[in-house]
Amino acid sequence: MLKGKHLIGPRDFTLEELDEILNLAHLIIENPKEYSKVCEGKLLAALFYEPSTRTRLSFEAAMHRLGGSVIGFSEANSSSTAKGETLEDTIEVVSNYSDIIAIRHPESGTAERAKKHSSVPIINAGDGSNEHPTQTLTDLLTIKLLKGSFNNNVIALCGDLKFGRTVHSLIKAMSRYENNKFILISPNELKLPDYIKKEFLIENNIEFIETTSLEEGLKHADILYMTRVQGERFEKYEEYLSLRDSYILNREKLNLAKEDMIVMHPLPRVNEIQTDVDDDPRASYFRQAKYGMYVRMALIAKLLGCV
Ligand code: CP
Repeated sequence: MLKGKHLIGPRDFTLEELDEILNLAHLIIENPKEYSKVCEGKLLAALFYEPSTRTRLSFEAAMHRLGGSVIGFSEANSSSTAKGETLEDTIEVVSNYSDIIAIRHPESGTAERAKKHSSVPIINAGDGSNEHPTQTLTDLLTIKLLKGSFNNNVIALCGDLKFGRTVHSLIKAMSRYENNKFILISPNELKLPDYIKKEFLIENNIEFIETTSLEEGLKHADILYMTRVQGERFEKYEEYLSLRDSYILNREKLNLAKEDMIVMHPLPRVNEIQTDVDDDPRASYFRQAKYGMYVRMALIAKLLGCV
């Protein structure tokens, strides 16, 4: 039963509940008209303390396409946070105005804090370098629709594995399925945090390798998940600049990959995927962003008990 639940991390829902959301998203894609009024009279608050294109606008589009309405802000400075209001007080107030809240914040742990002060479901729309569970739902729907199975995949994750919250959440999600293998491709400075390796890979006996070579990952991957180096999380800008261009996927490098591999990216990209890749049938990142709206429609509808 998903009605009334919060979504803070990628393991908050059972595998059956995830299936429920993904199956509903698929039904919405096939027949959006049928769902165009199911959330009539409901209000989503989108509280974005950090920049966003896809997550905020797909949440807003999702609620409108379900027949509901949206309130919110897209930067902290246009809210009373600028006057010193705490996150906790903001949530106490906004949860009285709305039926469901999506929150993005630059600090890790804010969605968990918000949950304790909310009378309505909280959806984590990204908290610092910690988690991004609705991106994970987007990624799962993409894998389901384009690869057909969550099992038996070689998943190469490339780029900023240290600060990239989408990667953290995706590993936690995909490590629940059978016989997946991970290739972790990053510069030494941006390796996956040890706690994720230990808790989600080693303790579950999941096979993985760490490498600095994109080419090595490309040869074996069924799914290549590229990520941006997260400039906003670095203390020293010079360090970011020295790592920003560590990996650049182009058409030529893609020749090394399997014909049925898919290239995913949560976006925004900076220059880690050159635009000459966009026309390749394996490039899946724009379809992925589109699926994000449908899966957020399914999530909102389920958490509000509208379907
Ligand atoms: N993928 C993602 O979170 O994109 P935005 O930062 O544009 O929301």
